Amino acid sequence: MIWFLLIGLIIVSLVLIFLVEEFFNLMFKGYAPVVSSKNKVLSEAIKQFNELGLVDGAKIYELGCGQAGFLRKLEKTSQVKYNLIGVELIASVYLLARLQLSLLRSRIKLVRKDFLKMSLKDGDCFYCYLNAALMARLSLKLKQEAKSGAILISNQFHLPGYEPIKEIKLGLTNYLRVYKL
Ligand SMILES: C[S@@+](CC[C@H](N)C(=O)[O-])C[C@H]1O[C@@H](n2cnc3c(N)ncnc32)[C@H](O)[C@@H]1O
Repeated sequence: MIWFLLIGLIIVSLVLIFLVEEFFNLMFKGYAPVVSSKNKVLSEAIKQFNELGLVDGAKIYELGCGQAGFLRKLEKTSQVKYNLIGVELIASVYLLARLQLSLLRSRIKLVRKDFLKMSLKDGDCFYCYLNAALMARLSLKLKQEAKSGAILISNQFHLPGYEPIKEIKLGLTNYLRVYKL
């Protein structure tokens, strides 16, 4: 009985922490909400990624990774040993993703950070699904520090200051955009 209460308490606490963090990030920081990329989008993103022909050891970041859908699909479908790094700010989302990845015995490395406050200069490819305001801030950061020739694949949102090298229409108003930095 005490165990049920304890587990219930942990779950309720995690949900409350999630709601507070999500509210704070959306209202006061303008950060993107926790919504996962659709499977159709992920499949196309992986297809575009594979065309890049990146080799073993390339550093691939999912910026604002949530459950790390892009990295998980990449790990599952590729034979190449990439360096896979997911960055997530919300503690409860990060913890849940870590739990899932350890159950899957995944090689993906998760970091709990604000990607606007960490170095991204070693990234060879970035995947993200954010929002317009956050893409504008990310663009300024990438202009300063991204490797020349690194690739960013964006679900839906433009990267201001860059022209996409590819724009794939996936629905009435849904696009996947590939940028060369
Ligand atoms: C729309 S979801 C996308 C999740 C996942 N990448 C996908 O495509 O399924 C955006 C995620 O980015 C996270 N996020 C937003 N701003 C962030 C920031 N500055 N640093 C790290 N994570 C952030 C949110 O908490 C959320 O989990």
